[in-house]
Order: sequence, then C-alpha cells, then structure tokens
Amino acid sequence: MSATMTKNQKLLDWVKSVEELCTPKSVYWCDGSKEEFDRLANEMVEAGTFVKLNESIKPNSYYCKSDPADVARVEDRTFICTENPEETGPTNNWIHPQEMKQKLNELFKGSMKGRTMYVIPFSMGPLGSKIAHIGVEISDSPYVVCNMHIMTRVGEKVLEVLGDGDFVPCLHSVGAPLNDGEKDVPWPCNGENKYIVHFPEEKSIWSYGSGYGGNALLGKKCFALRIASTMAREEGWLADHMLILGITNPEGEKKYIAAAFPSACGKTNLAMLTPSLPGWKVETVGDDIAWMKFGEDGRLYAINPEAGFFGVAPGTSMDTNPNAILSLQANSIFTNVALTPEGDVWWEGLTKKKPSKLTDWKGNEWTPESKTPAAHPNSRFTTPAKQCPVIDPKWEDPEGVPISAILFGGRRATSIPLVYEAFDWHHGVFLGSIVSSEQTAAAEGKIGAVRRDPFAMLPFCGYNMADYFAHWLSFMHRTETDKLPKFFSVNWFRKDENGKFLWPGFGDNIRVLKWIFDRIDNKVDAVETPIGYLPSIDSLDVSDLTITKEELSSILNVDTEGWLNEVDETRNYYKLFGDRLPSELIDEVNELEERLKS
Ligand code: OXD
Ligand code: MN
Repeated sequence: MSATMTKNQKLLDWVKSVEELCTPKSVYWCDGSKEEFDRLANEMVEAGTFVKLNESIKPNSYYCKSDPADVARVEDRTFICTENPEETGPTNNWIHPQEMKQKLNELFKGSMKGRTMYVIPFSMGPLGSKIAHIGVEISDSPYVVCNMHIMTRVGEKVLEVLGDGDFVPCLHSVGAPLNDGEKDVPWPCNGENKYIVHFPEEKSIWSYGSGYGGNALLGKKCFALRIASTMAREEGWLADHMLILGITNPEGEKKYIAAAFPSACGKTNLAMLTPSLPGWKVETVGDDIAWMKFGEDGRLYAINPEAGFFGVAPGTSMDTNPNAILSLQANSIFTNVALTPEGDVWWEGLTKKKPSKLTDWKGNEWTPESKTPAAHPNSRFTTPAKQCPVIDPKWEDPEGVPISAILFGGRRATSIPLVYEAFDWHHGVFLGSIVSSEQTAAAEGKIGAVRRDPFAMLPFCGYNMADYFAHWLSFMHRTETDKLPKFFSVNWFRKDENGKFLWPGFGDNIRVLKWIFDRIDNKVDAVETPIGYLPSIDSLDVSDLTITKEELSSILNVDTEGWLNEVDETRNYYKLFGDRLPSELIDEVNELEERLKS
C-alpha cells in the first residue's frame, strides 16, 4: 500500500511532517495483509527479535522477549497535557502542552534514523460502525505493526472508511536511532527516557522510548481509553476499562454485561468463563475495553473496540481459562513468557508439572530449581479474538450489544462482599468511584498494596477524574431510568484469617452471574443492607459446591467496622478532588455512614 491510497490531507501532511522530524530510512504504509504480517515476522526472526514457534504445535506464532527495562506500562511516565492542569486533574501527571511539545520535538528529532517508519491506519471497532473510531499509528517498531494487526483492524479498508474524515494521530518511536552501520538489538527501546503523552485538546498521542504493550500499541490504552474518554465526555458516550460478555440462561434468554476490574484482576477469565452450572452459557464480546453509546431505543449499546486479546499469561491454564488457551493455539505472539526445548511456550500456572528445562523470559536456562520465575509476571499473549471458541456471535455487530448490568470489582482480601447490587444509578456511580484493588504486575509499582482505582480507570482516564464521575452521573438524565443498566459490585478474592480464598472463583463465578442475571428482572430476592442489596444465603446457587454455610455467610456479610473504615478512606480519597467532586458522591458517602450507624 502507498500514500496514494488516501487523499486525506490531514493524514498526508502529518505523515510528511513526522518523516521530516524523525528522519527514518524509509516510510512504509501498512495494508494489514497476512503477507505483510509474515514478512515482518520473518524479518524479526532474522533480527533475533522473534523466535518462530514449532509450526506443528503453535502454527504462525512467535516468542519474543523484551528488554528487561521495558516490561510494563509506565504510569509515572504517562502524561495528560492540557492548557489548564485542572482539566487533567489530580490523578494524572500534567505538563503544559507547549513545554511537552518542545521536549517531544527534541526527542523525536532523528529518532527513527536507520529504521523504517510504518504508517498503520487502524479502526477501533468494526469498520464503519457508528460506535467505532479511526486512528493512525506511526511507529518505527515492526513488533508494534504485528501486534496492531492482531489487536485492531488495520489496512486499506480503514483508509476507505476514513475518506477525508478525522482520525487520532498516534506517534510512536522506540527512541533508539541507529547510526550508519550500527547493528540493531533484538528489542530496541530507551530504558531511561520514556514518555507516554496525550494531548486531549487536539486528540493526539506521542509515545517515546518503550516498545511494550499499552505504552506502544497506541490503539489500546492511549486511544481507546485516555483519548476516547475525553471524546466520550464531549460527545455524550462512555469509553471504559470493561470487559463485555453475553450470558444465556438455561431457558435461552440472553443478556449482556460489562465489568470494570483493574488490570490483571481476571477480566479475561470472566469474559471467557466456562460455567460450572449446567445449561448456562457465557460468550465473549471483549476482555478489556467497552465503548458505549445510546441506541435509538434509549439503551446503552457497547462494542469492543479491539480485535484481539492482549492477555496476562501467568495463571492462564486449561483449568482457569480453557477458552483463552484454546484461542492462543495459532497466529499469536507471546512476549516475555518462557520457551520450551520443543519450540512451544510456557508460563507459571500453565501446567501443574513444571517442565524440566526452559529458556526463561530473559533468555537464560531455567529449571524447576531456579529461584526466579520462568515467565515475567506481566508476560502476555497477543491473540485474535475471532479464535476464541466462545466468541459472541454479535462481537463484531456494528450496532453493538445492549448492556443490562455493569459490574465493578477488584482484588480485596477483606470487607468487600462477594456480590451486592447498588440501590440506584447514583449509588452505582459511587460504587464505581470506590473501586480499589491490590496492585498487580500490569504496571510498575509495589505489588500487593491496596490502591484506589475508581472505575478501574485510574491509569486510563484522560481528564479530571472528578469530571469523569460527573459524566457518569449525568447519564441518569440522558435516558429513562429503566433503560439504564443496573450496577453491581463483585469480589472473588475474599480470604479467611489464614489467607485462603473463600470463594472458588473461575467457572463458579457463574453462580454470581446467575444471581445478577435474575436481579436484572427482579426475579430473585435480595436483602437490603446498608451497603446495597445482597443475596440471601439461599438465593445464591451453591449446588454441588463444598463451601460451608459459615464460609458463605462470611463472604456475604456486611462487615460494619470494615465499611466504616472504608467510609473514612473514601472521604480522605475524595479530598483529592476538592470542590470539583460532584456533591452527589458526598451525599452517597454520608448516607452510607448513616445507614451503617443506624
Ligand atoms: C492491560 C492493562 O494491559 O490493563 O489491559 O494493563
Ligand atoms: Mn486492561
């Protein structure tokens, strides 16, 4: 494909200006074809970036290890640059756009020297869907191109749909120019100097220095969440860090649910759940991001803007998520996992028995006696969504799917019950605002510490989080109340005093989804408590589970003291937002305290 494919002047001008700034050795327009993927993958095999996996075990698939200085999203190097810092808010890093542009122009100057500059037109969402949007990523990384092929819809058709319309320019460089004759390294990056920058006012993205995941595949977190959340606010829709699943009961009735959990808290597992209850079916629309707009009937319809899964590998197995394992058998890229002598991949948790010999994610020989993990805790598979055995028949429906319930969850060892339902929309937004979780390896930081992660959007909201809460609250007035989804909070991660998980999780989470499914139409009873509606002990289907009545009542119990503590912590947290915090949320916290104390 070449530049002649488009007459879009903004695109042509932008590509030219980036070429002048970054001075690559050549410019290449991506067409999204299989031939293109294969050619770039082969080139990466030759360069030592990719190892081709055994064709008879994992056809058309590759193993890749990154530089150990480039293994996760870098939240402290992620910036939202607006004229006024108030727009960015207290949960984001801010630098004035002019100052940042100056810095970036210096960094990008000559940054692609000796490399090919790839122009990647991509659609987030089914091509032509009213809910979808188009971006163009310019990158000097063939690894990014191959991953974008899987994660988004790339190529000529995108340019056709774009016409002379608008797109989000996403500029990416690994920040490792090559001098004449200099030999490249397998994973070029700039370990010391990373900048993941968003300009919401002009809707553009500049990313420098990292080649990994959400730092570099700019359609995902940078566009589909940070920039899209600002577009959604302006245009009256929602862009959120949520999986989307379809659930069908034994009578054949189907509903769609969206769920926001912080990174690496099991969204992929829930999205592909294999129900332990007979007759129930779960199908996957998306595992990470939901874009929701109103349909003509006044209901919220969601699409998954992505075309693939960028899932956390460790812990994924035929026991925990068979559908993910079945999805990733071909046409996949595995980053920072371990390599077997047969040319297959392995990670902690994949099999009960550890292989006797591996190459670990750093390229060192590994045996079960080794003291370090074979796969990095944030190692990932990139795999096409269409390969998922339970992909929903409507996953590419341009109209999206109607959402009946929204779930919030996190990893919390104490206090937060297994499931409860919000009283109403405002209370639901309050529940979203108090999501918190024990930190995982998806971002750099201290693993295990509880952090507040409202709506699981802490690292992904492109504007002031207080305004984001107000935006969610405003939906109550945008349609009729009975057309809006109901809100629920879930927590699969409650532990007893000995640190043992109280709830089996995984396929048994269908029992919780069943209760939610029936609550949507008020078909099952709930107990009104100070924190919301909880299942009564008998309304949760625990047939064939070994869980004791005591264990069950402890995960469905309202821990008044723990919740009063939550009230204090929420008030403290809310102080961060000053006057900008919507008064409805202060009312919610006050009312919660009153209910707990009465
Ligand atoms: C992800 C994340 O990669 O949330 O999805 O970190
Ligand atoms: Mn995510």
